[in-house]
Amino acid sequence: MQNPQTLTIAVSKGRIYKDSMPLLAAAGIEPLDDPDQSRKLIIPTTREDVRLVIIRATDVPTYVEYGAADLGIAGKDVLMESDADSLYEPLDLNIACCRLMTALPEQASHRQGCLRVATKYAKTARWFYAKKGIKAEIIKLYGSMELAPLVGLADCIVDVVDTGNTLKANGLYADELIAHISSRMIVNQASMKLKYNAIHDLLDKVATACQKPAA
Ligand code: ATP
Ligand code: PRP
Repeated sequence: MQNPQTLTIAVSKGRIYKDSMPLLAAAGIEPLDDPDQSRKLIIPTTREDVRLVIIRATDVPTYVEYGAADLGIAGKDVLMESDADSLYEPLDLNIACCRLMTALPEQASHRQGCLRVATKYAKTARWFYAKKGIKAEIIKLYGSMELAPLVGLADCIVDVVDTGNTLKANGLYADELIAHISSRMIVNQASMKLKYNAIHDLLDKVATACQKPAA
């Protein structure tokens, strides 16, 4: 039987996992298994009262909203796109930083009429173009957005940009900034009340670690 005071933290593999583990370590939380080596989806930690669940980045808000995880770590891009609207977002971890941008081919010709936009950020792209009063057809993709304008699927893309190397390698350039992106700690609303002390203690320690310059 799981202790009712156990904290479950939802996190995705990859860059968020890599960048957030040193921050969780400041709260005494270190994973006892490596999710890249293990097929386990529930990872115990050095704290008996804390466990990690390893899920897809886009699923983190859903697990936290439904209370299957008390806390989660998710990119602001994912949160903007998510329909989970009853979460607390108390902490900007300043990790996995990038920019959500529009990008188009270097040789793009001026387009008249409806713009075709390929993106995995359909909701945010729809909001962005509507706000600008631009008629846009949004084509939902799940990755490799840079390809879409090169093969005539779309006029432009909406994607995250960090170094700009991926755009450059594909003959695209970043045009308009939609939002600065970083990862946030998110908290289930009921957990925040029921596990107040444990969650506040964790948030305080992680917040302090975020502010320290990297060693
Ligand atoms: P999935 O593979 O499950 O679709 P994903 O590819 O979005 O998810 P990651 O690539 O690990 O997962 O990215 C996680 C988060 O890191 C993103 O939501 C975004 O906030 C941020 N991110 C994405 N690409 C970059 C990048 N090139 N540089 C910095 N941060 C990034
Ligand atoms: C992300 C994003 C871009 C790239 C941008 O892809 O979708 O392709 O990073 O980074 P850059 O500006 O530094 O080149 P990611 O590396 O996450 O690959 P994936 O989306 O295919 O998983």
